[in-house]
Amino acid sequence: MIEQASTPNRVEHQMTDKGYVPVYTTAVVEQPWESYSAEDHRTWATLFERQMALLQGRACDEFFEGLNALNMSADAIPKFSEINQILKAATGWTLIGVEGLLPELTFFEHLAARRFPVTWWIRRPDQIDYISEPDLFHDLFGHVPLLMLPVFADYMQAYGEGGLKAARYGDEPLTELTRLYWYTVEFGLINTPDGLRIYGAGIQSSKGESIYSLESEAPNRIGFDVERVMRSRYRIDTYQKTYYVIDSFEQLFRATVDPDFGPIYYRLKGASAHPAGAVLESDKVFHRGSGEGWPEDADA
Ligand code: PHE
Ligand code: CO
Repeated sequence: MIEQASTPNRVEHQMTDKGYVPVYTTAVVEQPWESYSAEDHRTWATLFERQMALLQGRACDEFFEGLNALNMSADAIPKFSEINQILKAATGWTLIGVEGLLPELTFFEHLAARRFPVTWWIRRPDQIDYISEPDLFHDLFGHVPLLMLPVFADYMQAYGEGGLKAARYGDEPLTELTRLYWYTVEFGLINTPDGLRIYGAGIQSSKGESIYSLESEAPNRIGFDVERVMRSRYRIDTYQKTYYVIDSFEQLFRATVDPDFGPIYYRLKGASAHPAGAVLESDKVFHRGSGEGWPEDADA
């Protein structure tokens, strides 16, 4: 689920005069659609049907609207080329096939150009309930529906540009910006008249977390504040200890795209980050987590 990791997938070892060295791929690959097996299509169908049932009344309306407009269904793994015809016309985004996680800067460059990298392969049947790296189901089902929403599509592009800019400011700004991606694009919740709803892709694509994020007593649910999030550590290996709640996608856009982060990066220089499960005096608390079952080891 972690697009921002700086190490791309290792694909093979290559013999050089220094011995065998690992080879990584950052290349764009054409989706080898004909190569998907019947088992791959069944995996897609199983995950699709399961999440569609779980996400009723849990995911935000915009997610389902995007999914429907893109004609995604359980029938077969979607063809990127067919998705692209609709997506490109709607918001100018294009999916590109990739082997796996990309280096940070490559990822930012794609986003800034309205290209969304989607892992072309799908998990094995024994990984149905959990896989630690993003696969086609997470990337396509989790992320792509919201790219149909103009304000979110613009947010994602601006994030890519913001990433390239943060990289020029240094490692701390990059870490801070990565936290923003994590707590919005991957694990964001949105407040609606009907209650809290999911919009983060890491939750949409997870059976357990789509229930846990909304219904468990354990995690905190706190009102979104951009600097708060930029100073907050997170978990990469367990459900989140804290979810941040936006009021609207417009609020998210105004709080992140409009301000120049330069002065914020300077102000936060050397500032300590808050533990993932912390609740601060200044937080707008929707729910204070019981902390039940939280691991005690360090957060990422
Ligand atoms: N406005 C931010 C900056 O000046 C860029 C950004 C856009 C960050 C969207 C996050 C999301 O760096
Ligand atoms: Co993701």
